[in-house]
Amino acid sequence: MSSTTDFDRVARPDRWWRSAVVYQIYPRSFQDSDGDGVGDLPGITSRLDYLAELGVDVIWLSPVYRSPQVDNGYDISDYTEIDPLFGTLADLDELIAAAHTRGIKLVMDLVVNHTSDQHAWFTESRDPSSAKRDWYFWRPARPGSEPGAPGAEPDDSQAAFAPSAWTYDPRSGQYYLGVFSPGQPDLNWENPGVRQAVYAMMRWWVERGVDGFRMDVINLISKPAELTSGRTIEPGQGSLRRVANGPRLDEFLAEMNREVGLDAQNLITVGEMPGATIEVAQRVTDPARRELNMVFTFEHVNLDQVGWNKWDLADLPLPRLKANLAQWQEGLAETGWNSLYYDNHDQPRAVSRFGDDSPEHRVNSAKTLATVLHLHKGTPYIYQGEEFGMTNAPLTQIGHYLDVEALNYHALAAAAGVSEEQILRSLARKGRDHARTPVQWDDTPYAGFTTGVPWMAVNPNYREINAEASRRDPGSVFGHFQQLIRLRHAEEVVREGRFELLLPEHEQLWVFTRTLGDRALLVIANCSSTPAELPPGLPALDGAVLVLGTHPDGATGRLAPWESRLLRLGER
Ligand code: GLC
Repeated sequence: MSSTTDFDRVARPDRWWRSAVVYQIYPRSFQDSDGDGVGDLPGITSRLDYLAELGVDVIWLSPVYRSPQVDNGYDISDYTEIDPLFGTLADLDELIAAAHTRGIKLVMDLVVNHTSDQHAWFTESRDPSSAKRDWYFWRPARPGSEPGAPGAEPDDSQAAFAPSAWTYDPRSGQYYLGVFSPGQPDLNWENPGVRQAVYAMMRWWVERGVDGFRMDVINLISKPAELTSGRTIEPGQGSLRRVANGPRLDEFLAEMNREVGLDAQNLITVGEMPGATIEVAQRVTDPARRELNMVFTFEHVNLDQVGWNKWDLADLPLPRLKANLAQWQEGLAETGWNSLYYDNHDQPRAVSRFGDDSPEHRVNSAKTLATVLHLHKGTPYIYQGEEFGMTNAPLTQIGHYLDVEALNYHALAAAAGVSEEQILRSLARKGRDHARTPVQWDDTPYAGFTTGVPWMAVNPNYREINAEASRRDPGSVFGHFQQLIRLRHAEEVVREGRFELLLPEHEQLWVFTRTLGDRALLVIANCSSTPAELPPGLPALDGAVLVLGTHPDGATGRLAPWESRLLRLGER
């Protein structure tokens, strides 16, 4: 291969990510190559032709670094080593090269709000006289309490996956902060040494050939003043909320961008930001401020819960979901940029959550949801299996769940007297395990995921729902995703057109236009399992051309359940 060709294939023109579609891989569940039941890097490499056929531009790889796997790799003990579960650095180099050969870029997951408690930095920090003591948050017991005794934690805040955000370390008689779990101690970004170590590690990965970073809970890195000043803070608040969007967030992100050369090298950057508002996103994604390209909002995926408790279920009427996405479209219309997603490794499957996964409606609802999302303005993210309509799994007893979050919630809720039935109902709706069942490649044993015994049970519906079946069928969900990706690549109006929501109050229909100069697209989507009449007041449909629809006869005044139409309106 000549070096010119190499350069072309990995070139990153200015703002290239604005026309890209990203595909997320959760390596543990994607493809096993060695029969140990866990997906791995060579497994991913063996499926690159499939991803090229789908047409995606970028792969985002969930963590493959060395890790005790308390949180499936989101607890990293060595940032520059690959966990033996997934392979070796040589396997990763091979994956990057093989992806680049196909014109696909690769994004690493950057987990630097916290490390593993097995990371060398943390081991050193446990020594009170070490220079790394200040790299994490250490605090004494609550005044008047015996260190280590029940209830002596510095304050009452809970961790996301554990009863307390504070863990006692007998060596110094002090506690350290871990807002996720005791195996995930939070780094102290106030310390310049921490920041420089992170930037050096990021530069190392860029030199290795990666094309960008998805930044795990990155809006938690600047902790509030109460915490950084050494005082403990008011008890009783959700720990994530009180550490989100801290005072130095923008400063740290701009510094990272500069020091790593993120913009200078046109790398793609997306920050996962629970609790980020539109205002935060406007600042962070404003190109002039040189922080990040885009963020993952949580607002739309939290609408089916009450307040900050994801297990407290609420109904989600369509107008609320539409309004939320429209607000983000509007909020980032002038400066900044949206990311577009329903699914990832932390969310239940979109077709089961927002669509209808019954045999009658699964295919059309998966297609219609995809049309709606991919026709918004921003960078769409596809989560493995979403492209052929994988559904939630039948997880009906606590023994079916493996995720640290689910098990912690079950223990805490049961202790608080919540009935088993209610706990299981919440888990079945919102549990992260749904996203983590192995990818259903075909109808052979274990869905072609492994020749061994998979680490997590395969969804029994794999005989009907699998990638191979979907690929073979031209009218499939896979084919629909291919067309949506092609459209984004081909049409400037899909990438850059102005978004306008119509019929905001309609309970069944999701309708909007995208316009750019004299080009206009109209999306009409029936997001319900009953037919819907087209109401008056839509833009004139005379001369409109059906670009992509779920049903062959897309011209009537009535939409079938989960029918959607993407129309090109006559030139204006
Ligand atoms: C992010 C990850 C999630 C993980 C958490 C802690 O939300 O997506 O999987 O558990 O951060 O790292």
